[in-house]
Amino acid sequence: MNVRCLLNHAKLLLPPLLMIISVTAHAQSTYIPIESRNNALVLQAEKGKAPRIIYFGRKLVNAAEYGKVAGLYRQGDDYSGVLNAAYTSSGTHNLVEPAVRVTHSDGNTSLDLQFVSSATQKLDDQVTLTSVLLRDPVYAFEATLFYKVYASEDVVEQWTVLSHQEKKAVTLHKFASANLYLKGEGFWLKQFHGDWAKEMQPEESQITHGIKVLDTKLGTRSHLYQPPFFIVSLGGPAQENEGKVLYGSVEWSGNFRVDLELDPLNNLRVIAGMNDFASEYSLKAGERFTTPAFLYTFSGHGTGEASRNLQRWARKYRVIDGNGSRFTLLNNWESTFFDFNEQKLAQLLKDTKQLGVDLFLLDDGWFGNQYPRNNDRAGLGDWQENKQKLPNGISSLVKEAEANGVKFGIWLEPEMVNPKSDLYLKHPGWVIKQPGRAEHLYRNQLVLDLSHPQVQDFVFNTVDGMFTRNPGLAYIKWDCNAVIYNAYSAHLEKQSHLYIEYVRGLYKVLERIRAKYPAVPMMLCSGGGGRVDYAALKYFTEFWPSDNTDPLERIFIQWEYSYFYPAITSVNHVTDWGKQPLKFKIDVAMMGKLGFDVDVSKLSPADLAFARQAVQTYSTIKDIVWHGDQYRLTSPWKSDFASVMYGTADKSSAVLFAYLVSNRYGAASKEPVVLKGLDAAKKYRVQEINLYGTTRSAIGPDAVYSGDFLMSAGINPVVNAGRGSVVLKIEEVR
Ligand code: DGJ
Repeated sequence: MNVRCLLNHAKLLLPPLLMIISVTAHAQSTYIPIESRNNALVLQAEKGKAPRIIYFGRKLVNAAEYGKVAGLYRQGDDYSGVLNAAYTSSGTHNLVEPAVRVTHSDGNTSLDLQFVSSATQKLDDQVTLTSVLLRDPVYAFEATLFYKVYASEDVVEQWTVLSHQEKKAVTLHKFASANLYLKGEGFWLKQFHGDWAKEMQPEESQITHGIKVLDTKLGTRSHLYQPPFFIVSLGGPAQENEGKVLYGSVEWSGNFRVDLELDPLNNLRVIAGMNDFASEYSLKAGERFTTPAFLYTFSGHGTGEASRNLQRWARKYRVIDGNGSRFTLLNNWESTFFDFNEQKLAQLLKDTKQLGVDLFLLDDGWFGNQYPRNNDRAGLGDWQENKQKLPNGISSLVKEAEANGVKFGIWLEPEMVNPKSDLYLKHPGWVIKQPGRAEHLYRNQLVLDLSHPQVQDFVFNTVDGMFTRNPGLAYIKWDCNAVIYNAYSAHLEKQSHLYIEYVRGLYKVLERIRAKYPAVPMMLCSGGGGRVDYAALKYFTEFWPSDNTDPLERIFIQWEYSYFYPAITSVNHVTDWGKQPLKFKIDVAMMGKLGFDVDVSKLSPADLAFARQAVQTYSTIKDIVWHGDQYRLTSPWKSDFASVMYGTADKSSAVLFAYLVSNRYGAASKEPVVLKGLDAAKKYRVQEINLYGTTRSAIGPDAVYSGDFLMSAGINPVVNAGRGSVVLKIEEVR
C-alpha cells in the first residue's frame, strides 16, 4: 500500500477533520506505542502476522527502546506465537481464549487477523485516537482496533469494529472489545459481587492458571450480582499508595464478560466486552459491528492514584456536567411510599423549603388510573397522573413547587410494565417474554422490548411528554427494576440479537433525550444500585448506589464505589435506615450528593434545626467534595474507623470525613490520620464543622499546622463512641 492509499484508509477509519499524526504499514516489524502521560501499551506489528502486545506499563523515555523489552523475558515457548496477540482470533493456530470467533458465510470457522496498517490522530491537546487495521488473508473479513487515549488522566478506551464483504452473513460468536496482555510477578484480582441492598461487596484473590470469568446475564443492567469493573494488581494484593494496578470496566449496560486468563507463560490475558452468552450475531456484508469500549487505567502508584485519574476522567469527559453543580433534594419514597395525595405533597413541598434543599423529588406511585399504582403490582407503563391522588396533575405540583421557591423532579421507570396495566393489554407484543411459557415476573413487572423502534418511541415520548407538558420539571429519577427473564422479542427475527439490541435501543432513546434536553439532571437508578456503568453514565448526572442507606453500610458501599466513580455522581440520601444519630447519617451522605428521604414533620425540633444547618454547611464544602481529589485514608475494612479526604487541585482547601465503624469496647481513632494532597510548605487551619447543636469540638479552636506536619505526623479527628462521626475543614492560612 502506498502512502496515499494509507492516508485514504486512515480517513475511512477515523473521524474526519482531525490531524493524522502517523500512518504505518511496514513490511518489516514496527512498533506502535499507544502512550498516555505515564503509561504505554506497545504493539509489535508486521505485515502478514497478528500484531502482538510487547509492553504494557510505565512509558519509556526513549520509544526506540520498546523493541528491546521482549528480549528480556525467558518465560518459555509460545508454540502458537499468538499468546500475546493484540486481538486473538480463533480457528487457526490460537490455543487459548479468543477475543473474536466467527463462522464465515461458507461455514468455515477459521479467522486469521493480520496487520495491515495503523494510524494515529490527535483529537485535541490531550486526546489521541489510534486505529489498527487487521485483515484475514483468505476471507474478506476485517477488524479495526481503536485506542482512544486521554493522556493527562492515563485513561484508555479501547473498542473494535468488525466488518466483512463476504457473500452472505457472517456469524459472530465472540466479539470482545479489547484484549490486553500483562507481565508481572503474579496477579491479584479485586472483584465485586452483590445483590439488592448489598451492592459492591469486594473480594480479592490471586489469579491462578486457567480462566476467571466475570460476567452478567441480567440483560437490562450490567450489575446487581456483578459490576463490570475490576482491579488487577501486579506482584501482590492491591495497595492504596503503591504498586502496579490495572482498573478495567466494560462500558455496556447489559450483559458483559471479562476473561482473565493466566497463560502457560504466567502472563495475564484480559479479554473484555459484551457477553457472548445467547448472543450469536449475524453480521451482513458491509455492516459494521462496533463493540462497546473497554475502559482502563494503569497506575504504578496504587489504587489511590488510579481512582483519582478515573474520577477526573469521568468528571471531565463522561458524566453530564461532571464539573458542574447538583441539586440537593427531599425525596418522598421512604416517607410515603405509594400513599400520598395533593395535600400531603403540598406539605412535603413546604418541608423541602424548610429543610433548605433545592428540589422535591416525587417518587413512584403518582400514575395509573384503570390500574392505579397503589402498590408495585399494577400501573407500571400507564404514565398518566392518577386522578384520585393528583386531580390537578403534575403541572400544578410543579407550579406549587415554584411558589415555594423549590424545584420539582419526578420518578419514572419507562422501560418496564406491570401485566396489570393498560399498556400491557394494548401492546402485548411490546413485552419481552417467551411465547407459550408462563411469565416470570421480577418485582411484579416485565421488561419492554427496547429493540422495537415503536417501544423506543414510546419510552422517548414518555420522557419528552413529561417535559413538554411540564416545562418547569427540573429532574428525573430513571429507575429500572426488572431483569430480563424468558428472553424473547416478538419484533426481532434473530432472537440471539435481543440482549445486544435491547441495550442499543436504550442508548438510542437516551441519545434522543439528551439531544433535546442536554443538561437536565437525571439520576440513574436500578433496583438499588444495579445499573452503574460508564456507558449509561454518558447520559446521566448521578447514580443511586444502593437502596441500603444505613449509614454504616453506606460507608463501605460508598468506599467501594469510590474506586471507580467520583463523589459528584454518588446520590446519598439520609433516611430512616440505621439507628445512628442524624448527624452520623448526614456526615456519611455528605461524601457525595446529599439528599433526604425522611418525614421532616417527624424530626425533633433539635434534629430539624441541625438538618437545616447541615444543608448550609454542606453548601460550603460541596465544591471540594464534588470537584476535588479524593484520598481514601483509613480503610473501614482494616480499622475501627474510616477516613476519607477530598482536596482542591490548588491545595488550598480540603475536607476530612471520619466515622467510627466498630462498636467494640474502646473502639476509636487511636492513631492520627496522615493527610494527603496538601502543600507541605503551606499552613492550614483545621476546624471541625457540622457539629450537632451546642456540642463542643474536641479539636482546638485555632488549630494551625503546616502541610508538612499534616502529611507526616497527621491529625487525630478524635473519633470514639461519643463522637461517632467527625468532619474537619482544612483551609490554607494566607
Ligand atoms: C427502587 C429504587 O431504588 C427506590 O429508590 C424507589 O425509587 C423504588 N424503586 C420505587 O419503586
